[in-house]
Amino acid sequence: MKLLLPTPLIALLFLGCGDATQPPPKPIKKQTGEQIFVMYCAMCHGILGDGKGTVTLDRPARSFIDGGFSFGNTVNAILKTTRSGIPGTPMPPFEDILDEEQTTKVATYVRSLAPTLKDVVIEETELVVNNRPLVVRGMIPPIQGGLQLHPRGLVIGNPDGFSYEYRVDDVRLLAIRQGRFVERADWGARGGSPLSMLGKIIVLIDNGNPSSIFATSDMKPLQTKLVATNTLGDYATITYDIVDNGGNTLATVQEQCVPTTGARALIEQQLTITASTPLTMTILKGTSMDDSAEIPIGTSVRTIIHAARGSEE
Ligand code: HEC
Repeated sequence: MKLLLPTPLIALLFLGCGDATQPPPKPIKKQTGEQIFVMYCAMCHGILGDGKGTVTLDRPARSFIDGGFSFGNTVNAILKTTRSGIPGTPMPPFEDILDEEQTTKVATYVRSLAPTLKDVVIEETELVVNNRPLVVRGMIPPIQGGLQLHPRGLVIGNPDGFSYEYRVDDVRLLAIRQGRFVERADWGARGGSPLSMLGKIIVLIDNGNPSSIFATSDMKPLQTKLVATNTLGDYATITYDIVDNGGNTLATVQEQCVPTTGARALIEQQLTITASTPLTMTILKGTSMDDSAEIPIGTSVRTIIHAARGSEE
């Protein structure tokens, strides 16, 4: 995740002072929340907080005046997000840049941009996917009896009503659902309780506990590391690196899931793999692949096909 940090920090450096060789300005203690916002947030979130900043991002920054708070709209929730950033998105962490008092001031200001909102209580925390994909990070509860909880998880909800549950400590698609999206039961509990999935499971990959699908050409299993998610298109994409035990990146994968229409409901997990060394993919039980499991050096496209439950009845 460290990889993502420099860009906004460079942007801060450039925007913060005319001469990029100078260290970033030490914020003056007496700044108001609004002044801190203008200095550190407006470039992405817009001077009015409308999400129309001057920096080009892979996704829109939140519009605060529309009440766009998928991580909670209390000052405390905004404060937490500001402090730790949103991994896998351009939202940078400010814990090393703003102190406690400044973070509180700016979070209070951000909250005040949507003055008509009342604080969301737990019963009102269902996230609804509208016309663009949503990505939520949090704890993934055991999908069914006997399966484990994943403290680091991510759920993608696409406007077509399909959602995708991933573990991201080692990026693996666990399950595909259809229907309603996610309830953030973890808001009030400071991330201490899991998300609650509202959709119906239509695909459970390798019984919900898939092994790694990437290996070296001599079949040594490899790990994956989340790089980013992107929600600008019709289908969210997730980008991750394939790494060896020494942490060296052997390939980068960009992945999106698209349902097909036809006699049988199939979900295509489409992978664009850019490899610097030859790799082998494992085809998990219940899935098939459109092409060879051998991945050569260069960019290859592979589609893993999942049959949706109940589609054969
Ligand atoms: C480099 C661009 C950038 C900067 C600078 C930035 N943000 Fe963000 N911020 C984003 C993006 C992009 C998102 C949406 C991420 C996503 O898709 O989940 C976001 C999301 C957020 C959210 C989450 C809202 C929710 O959904 O709950 C909060 C709160 C937030 N930003 C506050 C701030 C504050 C406060 C500052 C300044 C101290 C700031 N941001 C600076 C890009 C930025």
